[in-house]
Amino acid sequence: MSLITWSDQLAVGIEEIDQQHQKLVQLINGLHNHMLAGDASEIMAKVLDRVIQYTGFHFETEEQLMLRYDYPNSETHKHEHSDLVNTAVTLQQKLHSGNAHITMETMHFLQDWLQHHILGSDKMLADFLKTKGLH
Ligand SMILES: [Fe+2]
Ligand SMILES: [Fe+2]
Repeated sequence: MSLITWSDQLAVGIEEIDQQHQKLVQLINGLHNHMLAGDASEIMAKVLDRVIQYTGFHFETEEQLMLRYDYPNSETHKHEHSDLVNTAVTLQQKLHSGNAHITMETMHFLQDWLQHHILGSDKMLADFLKTKGLH
């Protein structure tokens, strides 16, 4: 069973963002599956690298849109992004040095963060972008 199930409830209505969120959900579900399989920390570190890399690409996409359309709440939104990146990079460093494991607590943190961020800040950004004619 997947950790996060994609549903229309998570869709914000901007195609590019929704597609990237679906990919992010897949990657986090993949990380969860590796955790359940009890994979070694070197493998977990590589899988987490991919999650972080894609997350960075996705945040960049949203932040470019904020810049292009002069989004008024960009500072708060970007701050949420950088907080997550910092947390993930710290975890990644610990994994690479063999000082941490990915636990169910980590997975629930990622799940909660993503759902809360999508339904809050990303939805607000999407509603703004719709007023600029994006879909
Ligand atoms: Fe975002
Ligand atoms: Fe997002």
